[in-house]
Amino acid sequence: MSERIESLLAQMTLEEKAGQLNFPVGDLFVTGPAMITAESAEFDDRIRNGTITGLFNIHGAKYTARLQRIAVEESRLKIPLLIGADVIHGFQTMFPIPLAEAASWDIEAIEESARIAARESTAVGINFNFAPMVDIARDARWGRSAEGAGEDPFYGSLVGAARIRGFQGDDLSKPYTVAACVKHIAAYGAAEGGREYNTVDMSERRLREVYLPPYKAAIDAGAATVMTSFNEFDGVPVTASKFLLQDILREEWGFNGMVVSDWASVPEMVIHGSANDTCDAAKQAIEGGTDMDMMGEAFIEHIPQLVQDGKVSMETVDHAVRNVLRLKEKLGLFDDPFRYSDEKREKTELRSRKHLSAAHDMARKSIVLLKNQNQILPLAKEGKSIALIGQLAENSAEMNGCWAYFAKPYHPISFLTGIKEKAPALTINYAEGYHLYNETTRYFDEAIEVAQNSDILVVAVGEGAVMNGEAASRAEIGLPGNQLSLLKELKRLRKPIIALVSCGRGIAIPWLAENADAILVNWALGSEAGRAVADVLFGDYNPSGKLPVTFPRSVGQAPIYYGSRTTGRPYDGDYSEPKSERIYTSKYRDEKNSPLFPFGFGLSYSTFRYSNLQISQEQITAEDRLRVFVDVENAGEVAGEEVVQFYIRDMVGSVTRPVKELKGFKKVKLQSREKQTIEFSLGANDLSFYRRDMTWGYEEGEFEVMIGGSSESVLTTKFNLIS
Ligand code: GLC
Repeated sequence: MSERIESLLAQMTLEEKAGQLNFPVGDLFVTGPAMITAESAEFDDRIRNGTITGLFNIHGAKYTARLQRIAVEESRLKIPLLIGADVIHGFQTMFPIPLAEAASWDIEAIEESARIAARESTAVGINFNFAPMVDIARDARWGRSAEGAGEDPFYGSLVGAARIRGFQGDDLSKPYTVAACVKHIAAYGAAEGGREYNTVDMSERRLREVYLPPYKAAIDAGAATVMTSFNEFDGVPVTASKFLLQDILREEWGFNGMVVSDWASVPEMVIHGSANDTCDAAKQAIEGGTDMDMMGEAFIEHIPQLVQDGKVSMETVDHAVRNVLRLKEKLGLFDDPFRYSDEKREKTELRSRKHLSAAHDMARKSIVLLKNQNQILPLAKEGKSIALIGQLAENSAEMNGCWAYFAKPYHPISFLTGIKEKAPALTINYAEGYHLYNETTRYFDEAIEVAQNSDILVVAVGEGAVMNGEAASRAEIGLPGNQLSLLKELKRLRKPIIALVSCGRGIAIPWLAENADAILVNWALGSEAGRAVADVLFGDYNPSGKLPVTFPRSVGQAPIYYGSRTTGRPYDGDYSEPKSERIYTSKYRDEKNSPLFPFGFGLSYSTFRYSNLQISQEQITAEDRLRVFVDVENAGEVAGEEVVQFYIRDMVGSVTRPVKELKGFKKVKLQSREKQTIEFSLGANDLSFYRRDMTWGYEEGEFEVMIGGSSESVLTTKFNLIS
C-alpha cells in the first residue's frame, strides 16, 4: 500500500473519488458513437474540479503539459492526469497493421515495433496506450481481425506478451515507456456472424482453450491495465461480468492492475437490456470489476449517490480508486507530471530515421507471397515495362492502416513511389483503374490502355484502410467494389498479372489464386509500404511472411481456422469420389472444406525441403521432455528465411481435440543449399487441456507430431504419453 495513495484517499470526497474513475475523450477526435462532449475550456474546469481522471485521444507536449499543470497546480488534491490514446501500430512512424506484423513471425521485431510506438507517443504527452489488442479472430467477416495476431492462441499469446514488453519496458516510470492495455476482455472476436459488437456465447471450455490465453499471457507479461469488451458473454455484458473480471481476471490470474471499460460500454448496458438505467449500470459495472468508466459519464453521475444510499460500498469504490492512483504512481506522474510532455523529444522522436528504418524492416517481413507461378517474381529492375494499376498503388494514405489517427495521409511511401525509387530505369505506367469507394468504371479504359502498352501488369487491389478495424465487419469478404471486373478485363490482354493485395483479414481471392501469376499479401504496411513492396517485387528482400489467419475460399466457409475438430463424419475430399461415398459427410454441396490458403502458409523465392523427422523416444512419461528434430534445406538459389512450424494432435481425449495445435515455431535463415537440423521439445504441460471435468491437465495416449512450412504441408510421426 502506498502512503501517498492512502493519504489521498483519506482526503478525497466522494465526488473526487468518482472523478478519478471518469475518463472522457479529449477534443481532438472521437473513436466512438458520441461526439466530443466538451471544448478545451470546459475540460480545464473539470480538471480543476477533480471530476475527470484524464483525457484520451489528445496529444502534444505543450497541450498535455498545460492540462497537467491545471491538474497539479489548480485542483484541490493535485492529482496528475492519465493521457490515453490508441497507438495500435505506431504513432507517427506507422508500422504495418498488427495482423501484418503477426505475419512476420518475428517476435523480436514485433516487440521493437511496440517499443518505438511507446517512444513516439510518450514524447507527446501520452502515458496510457489502449493496446495491444489480443482478441483471437477466426471469422474473416470481423473487421478487427486487422488489429490482432490472428486465429491461434499459442501464437497470439507470444505476440501479445511481446507487445506488452515493447510498450512497458521494465519500468513504467521511464519517460519513454507507456502503460499498456490488454484488450478487449473477453472473446470480442467471437461475435456471432463476425458482425461487430454482436453477441458472444460459447462454452467455458472454448473460452478458456481459445480466447483467454492471449489475455493471460499479456497479463503475465506485466500488463498494467485491461479493457473490457463491448460484447456480452453468456448473457452478461462483459463490463459487468464478475465471472470474467473478478473470478478469472483477479482471483485466478492475480491481476492487480486497473480495468477500464471500453467506450461508453457502462451506459450501454441499458441498451443491452441488462440494466434498468445508467445508475443500475454504474452499480453493476463497478461491482462487476470495472474500475474506470471510459466515455460513459455513469460513474461520475451515480457513484456518489449510490454510496450515500448504501447501494455500493465505499470499499468497492476505494478499490477502484486505488487501482487508478496506483497506475498514476507507477507511471511516475506524482513525481513529475510533465515527464511525458517533452517538447525536445517531440522534435526528435517522431518519424526519426531509425524508427522509419525499423518500420521498413517490419514491413518487408510482413509481406506474404501466396503464389509465384513459373517464378515470375522477382522482377528485373530494367527491361520489361510495368503497368502499375490501382488506386491502392498511389494513394499513400491507405497505407497507414486502420488505426492511424496520428499519422499524416501524405506520410507513407506509396507503391508507385517505392517502385520508381527502386527501378529508375524501368518504364512504369500508372493508372488508377478503379475507385476504392464506389463502383465507377470510368477509369477502366485508361487502365486497359496502359496495360496494353506495358509488358507486365502489377495490380494493387484489396481493401482500403477504413474497410478494416472497428465497425468494419463485411458480409462479403472478397475484393471490394468492381476491382474483380477490372481484373477480368485485364486478364483478356493475356499478360502476366502480379497482384498486390491490401487487406486486414483473411480476404477471399479465389479468382486471383486461379488467374494471377503471382500474389503478394501486403496487408497495410505503414509509412514504408512502397519501399517494402519494391524490395520484395525486385528481389532485394526474399519474402518470409506466413499467414497468421486462414484465407477462405468464400465467406460461406467463415468461421474457418486450422485448429478445428474432425467431427464424426469428416470430409477432406474434392468431390471426385462417387456421390454415395460422400453424401453424408461434413461439407458444403457448393464449396470445398479446404481453405484457399491455410494458416502458416507463405512462399519464398527459395525452396525449403523438409526431411528426416525424428523424435527422441517413442513414448514419454509426464516427467520427460520429448525432443523433435527435422532437417530443413534451402534447395533454392538465394538465401531465405523459413518459419518452421511445430504442431501436435492428441488422437483421443476425454473431450474431442483439435486436429492440429501449434506448439512451437522457429524462423530460420538458410543460405542457398544450406541444411540445418531444427529442434523442438515438449512436455506433458504442452499436451494439457481442459478435460471432460474441466480440470486442466494431460491424458495418456497417442499423439501425432507434425512439422512443416505451413499448417497443411507437414511431415508426421507419432509418440505415446504413458503414465
Ligand atoms: C474504441 C475501441 C477501443 C478503443 C477505444 C478508445 O471504441 O473499441 O479499442 O481503445 O474506443 O478509442
